[in-house]
Amino acid sequence: MLMDCVDLDALEQTARRVMPPASWVFCDTGADDEITAKDNIAAWRRLRLRPHVLRDIVEVDTGVTLLGAHVKTPIVVAPTGRHHLFHAEGERATARGAAAAGALYVMATSGSTTVEDVAAECGGPPQWFKLYMQPDRDATGVLLDRCVAAGFKALVLTVDQPVPGWSPRGYRTPVIASPDRRSVNMVGQPISRTAYDVERKGIVMFPTNFGDLEWLVKRTSIPVVVKGVLRGDDARRCVDCGAKGIAVSNHGGRHLDTTVTTAEAIADVVEAVGDSAEVYVDGGIRRGTDVVKALALGARAVLLGRPPLWGLAVNGAEGVRAVLEHIHDETVRAMQLCGAANLAALTPDLVKV
Ligand SMILES: Cc1cc2nc3c(=O)[nH]c(=O)nc-3n(C[C@H](O)[C@H](O)[C@H](O)COP(=O)(O)O)c2cc1C
Repeated sequence: MLMDCVDLDALEQTARRVMPPASWVFCDTGADDEITAKDNIAAWRRLRLRPHVLRDIVEVDTGVTLLGAHVKTPIVVAPTGRHHLFHAEGERATARGAAAAGALYVMATSGSTTVEDVAAECGGPPQWFKLYMQPDRDATGVLLDRCVAAGFKALVLTVDQPVPGWSPRGYRTPVIASPDRRSVNMVGQPISRTAYDVERKGIVMFPTNFGDLEWLVKRTSIPVVVKGVLRGDDARRCVDCGAKGIAVSNHGGRHLDTTVTTAEAIADVVEAVGDSAEVYVDGGIRRGTDVVKALALGARAVLLGRPPLWGLAVNGAEGVRAVLEHIHDETVRAMQLCGAANLAALTPDLVKV
């Protein structure tokens, strides 16, 4: 399969053709009217850059430390579940592709690959594990210990999906659950079901409150990042509970529709958190110029959700690597055209808000 990676829109169309219809819908859909899913993309594109001129940009350094680990790019693979819907090798291929691109990979709880098998593909950049807090804390604790033993360097607690959202598209073209396909890292290895499966409608899957966050921070030796925060006041409270990172996210618009976009939310969170934690952002980032805007507005790194899945479907690990390198190259070019030779030069005045 020829990969057209001139822009991610072209790759998206190729991915749409190669994915089985239910996998495509699961990847692509947003909740309800899909307003937030689309707005996320439009909001970055709407922001206008105010480039500097006459700066020395021959050598560009995109290196950054994320929770103490140096990585060569601020572009991170967001946690997305069920990679076997996109490629036979599932999360192993994604992890390998991310490592080849030198990018940090955040593995999701809900996949059919064990944490140990994903950790085995870690080729240099760190891996983080994204946790949904399951009601059984002892079982959650066992999983946490396995993650630490396997070498994961941080836990990402997702807090914006206490109940599943609803996707009319997902309902019409559902992923059919099969007893052969299990969420192997979850308690009891339940049959893998997507968030939009009718069996899950209205169920509080992941009840989590600030007390649980404090418990998690105490229970584990590795740093905790809270993902799915859109407000400065909540971000501050998470940091007060011990979170070392905040991921500004609306889950790619997949659960609550009509939220603020992440481009709109980032400044409030950055201001509330200050230097007390790292702030990351995801949702609708498709261009190097989007990355530059996000970093200029105070994000330390950006996460990509759907695009690596397009690469995975079209060309496995190699496709994931190609997507990440493509957006990295675009980012370097956008930095040069903005007169920024390193990430510290990406300051808020570069963006007209
Ligand atoms: C197919 C799919 C599955 C996802 N699964 C999870 C998940 O299990 N946990 C989570 O925190 N976020 C999940 N997300 C959300 C992503 O981590 C990320 O927040 C979002 O996709 C970013 O938006 P983007 O796709 O526009 O880049 C998922 C997203 C997609 C597209």
